[in-house]
Formats: sequence, structure tokens, C-alpha cells
Amino acid sequence: MAEDLTITRGDKKTQYESLLPQIQGLLSGETNLVANLGNIAAALKEQFNWLWVGFYWIIEDELVLGPFQGPVACTRIKKGRGVCGTSWEKEATIIVADVEKFPGHIACSSSSKSEIVLPVFKEGKIVGVLDVDSSELADFDTVDQVYLEKILAMIP
Ligand code: SME
Repeated sequence: MAEDLTITRGDKKTQYESLLPQIQGLLSGETNLVANLGNIAAALKEQFNWLWVGFYWIIEDELVLGPFQGPVACTRIKKGRGVCGTSWEKEATIIVADVEKFPGHIACSSSSKSEIVLPVFKEGKIVGVLDVDSSELADFDTVDQVYLEKILAMIP
């Protein structure tokens, strides 16, 4: 497919419904992980213009910064630390409406107000997390969770 993304306006569901097949198109035929994570982060950032969208990948006993879009970020996060390390430990999606109220939140950017972190599974085993930060409070809900989980399940 062409490498241009078609940006759709409208409610969140409409935006995801337009984006999903485009991401599927970007991933199809490409098996390189870095290429695919890079395009997912770029597509999400371009569609939603969130503050930060990116991956942390499990390498030995830490999460290590992977492909992302947005301001520079901390490079390593231990299991159980911050929202990302907690999502890893619990192997669960975490939605944080106000990052200041999440004990142990790691502030990579002072502009970040709310956050969603989702585990990425490969063959039933957690391999990393997707982290999305917004400069608005309470920007994420279960609609984001459902669609972002669908996108993560597409990673070959
Ligand atoms: N806020 C995250 C750290 C990563 S940055 O937001 C990009 C956390 O608490 O784990």
C-alpha cells in the first residue's frame, strides 16, 4: 500500500475504524519488528496527535525504550516500576486518568497528564508494552483499550 496515512476526523471509534485497516496494510508482508513497531507508533501519533506513543520491550530484567514518537524518554524501566513496569508485572492494561495520582508514576515529560499502557503478547508470552501519553487529563477509556489491543494483536 501507499505509505500515506488517511487521517479521519470524528469520534474516537470512527478514527480507530479508519486507522485499523491502514495499520493492517502497513504490517502486511513485513516481519521486521522494529519496522512494524515504528509504523504503529507513527500511525497512532499522526491520527490522534497524542503527546507520546511508543514501545518498551522486555530485554532481560528491564523494559528498554523501543520505537516511539514524541519527546525523548527514559530508556530503562524495571519490572513493577511506573505505569509501564506495573503493566508488565500484572500483564494487564492500565488506564491512568491523572498521572499525578498514580503512585510511582515515572514522569518522562511534565506535559503528560493521562496515560494508557498495554502489554504486548507474542505466543501467549508478554514481550513488551505500548505506552501512550496525553497532555489532557482522562484522555483514555475502554474504547482505546479495545482498539489498541486489536492493533497489538496484528503485530506479526
Ligand atoms: N510514564 C511512564 C514512563 C514512560 S514515559 O511516559 C514515555 C511510566 O510511568 O511507566
